Amino acid sequence: MGKILIVGPSSQLLGVRIAKLLNIDVITTETKKFPDGENYLRLNIDDESIIEGNDVIIIHTTGASVKENQNARIMELLMMISSVKRMNAKSIAVVVPYLAYARQDKIFRPGESKFANVIVRILDSFGIDKFYTVDVHAPETLNEFSIPAKNLDPMPLLASYIKSMGLKDPVVIAPDKGAVARSERFAEHIGNEIKVHYFSKERDVRTGEVEMFADVDLAGKDAVIADDIIATGGTMANAIKIAKKCGANKIIAVGTHALLLENASYRILNAGADEIIGTDSIESPVSKVSLAELIAKELK
Ligand code: R5P
Repeated sequence: MGKILIVGPSSQLLGVRIAKLLNIDVITTETKKFPDGENYLRLNIDDESIIEGNDVIIIHTTGASVKENQNARIMELLMMISSVKRMNAKSIAVVVPYLAYARQDKIFRPGESKFANVIVRILDSFGIDKFYTVDVHAPETLNEFSIPAKNLDPMPLLASYIKSMGLKDPVVIAPDKGAVARSERFAEHIGNEIKVHYFSKERDVRTGEVEMFADVDLAGKDAVIADDIIATGGTMANAIKIAKKCGANKIIAVGTHALLLENASYRILNAGADEIIGTDSIESPVSKVSLAELIAKELK
């Protein structure tokens, strides 16, 4: 009896990278959509008994992409879990590098649902044994799980990438309050004396429009702006414009989960960023840092 890695359709590259590090075989999936829009997923296996009694790991990120939206990704994840449960896996560890809906962790307006917690409760109710995610929007959300749930920190990996870029006099910028702890860890991993600057952000809860304020001297500095998610690119573009105004030299936009919806990449580069760096939590041309090592270490 051993470990089996099921690589969901949204995490194929990352899944294969992890499998190589763990030296284990991979099971892939077959997916399609029914004419009414319902999702279909089956594990690519001929004999269900290969699952029975084994420790199964499922990796499947739930970010929206051009191929599927996040709701479909969640359905696919639940289908994979329920299949291996039915086939009597000995244990099920679920790795969701980007957890969709995690940003809906607070009530901003009357009548809203705290859906981040609901997603966690749904996953918990499927009888999984362990849960891993990466740089989740608000780590407290994971407290809703009744099983061990871990939020993995990609900052050391992102920091080594930044260090390899040979930036001049770098500083880290936290584009909002939520990014402060992450940016401080990031700066520590880049180097002892790296300063963190804090920008303040206000988002209109109705329109989603972002306003940002800062008054710092960045003359001659290379600025690394670090956020958990880059979605529309609005937060990043605002922070970049302000960093430019404050005199920053090079500007690097770093997002653990670079969803880069619609014209986000254009907005960010047009605002003055020199480079966008993301991880393979979301597969895209900016996935320059792989999470494979971080995740494989946990699963060993
Ligand atoms: C919000 O609190 C998050 O940490 C990110 O700043 C936000 O999700 C980025 O979204 P967007 O790219 O649409 O501004």
